[in-house]
Amino acid sequence: MAYTVQRLADYSEAALESAAGECIRACEGEAAAVRDEADLKDFRNRWLGRKNGILTQINDQWLKDAPKEAKREAGIRVNELKARINELVEAKKVGGDESGASAAERVDISLPGLHRPIGAEHPVVKTTNELVRIFQKLGYSVAEGPVIETDYYNFEALNFPPNHPARDTQDTLFIAGQQVKPPRERLLLRTHTSPVQIRTMEKMPPPLRIVIPGTVHRNDPPDASHSPMFHQIEGLCVDTNITFGDLKGTLDHAMKEFFGSSVKTSFRPSFFPFTEPSAEMYVSCFICGGSGRRGSDPCRPCKQTGWIEILGCGMVDPNVFEFVKDSGYDPKRVSGFAFGMGADRIALLKYGVDDIQLFFQGDVRFLRQWA
Ligand code: DAH
Repeated sequence: MAYTVQRLADYSEAALESAAGECIRACEGEAAAVRDEADLKDFRNRWLGRKNGILTQINDQWLKDAPKEAKREAGIRVNELKARINELVEAKKVGGDESGASAAERVDISLPGLHRPIGAEHPVVKTTNELVRIFQKLGYSVAEGPVIETDYYNFEALNFPPNHPARDTQDTLFIAGQQVKPPRERLLLRTHTSPVQIRTMEKMPPPLRIVIPGTVHRNDPPDASHSPMFHQIEGLCVDTNITFGDLKGTLDHAMKEFFGSSVKTSFRPSFFPFTEPSAEMYVSCFICGGSGRRGSDPCRPCKQTGWIEILGCGMVDPNVFEFVKDSGYDPKRVSGFAFGMGADRIALLKYGVDDIQLFFQGDVRFLRQWA
């Protein structure tokens, strides 16, 4: 006869003992008779089923009916019993192999594995990393700085005096509500990575060689070649006797590493407040090889000129060193060069992408091409 839960006639210790013993023996007996998965399911259900399992019935019939003075003792007993029955049910496995694993637990190695896509570097990140690596191999370390910057670091210490017209070229996005602060402490979104030049020189004495990757913002409406958020890679080298020849040699080498050894570089005069002299550097068009033509068609990326503008650079203006003189940068003793380039623009050119917006829309069909 299958075990059924009987009401307890009395709650003496002996009666509880014998009822619990009978229950455990029944459970052991039934456990031994389990042969397959279906048996195991029934067995679990019969003993542990929430609605009408034997443990639930014991709870209802033995505990709830217990006279007040016996409740505590009966509670302890029933808890012991529950623990034991749970053990018996949980320990029960069906058709165990040598390792003790049930059919359900055994691994079927013929099944296809789970595919976990691991993603890929974004083309702008990839370009940045490649360029940073080239400068690291020349002994440069990586420096970074805040995206929300003060007027002092973004402009003043880079030799843009207050109200100087050169500030207009930067299309700055200012943080609201800053008028209460002194002008140099007012916050803005940095328009270039150049402020990290100052921040790093304040912390580290010369000689210094740093490369600075980072995000910058400008008030440019988005179109195929502009984005209000974009990325730059800045460089700064300071030592005694650094010349324009060092600048040219370093950048020419970096461009040959990045675009291939056949590219040539060309330096043309320009203006930046923080460098004197300043230049724009062009590389010979790596798409048309400098001819300005692709077969019988004009070469679009270089606008048929055979040259592509890549970056701004120059010799650090002594006025900039004046701002960090106390950190060891005496303009009479040290000299240096600096450069800054747009990582997004270089990625556009390198990968032949015709719309910068594609970099920031997060469309996986576009991004998957770099996976
Ligand atoms: N900060 C400049 C810009 O965003 C780029 C630049 C030009 C950086 C010349 C430099 C430099 O360090 O020497 O337009």
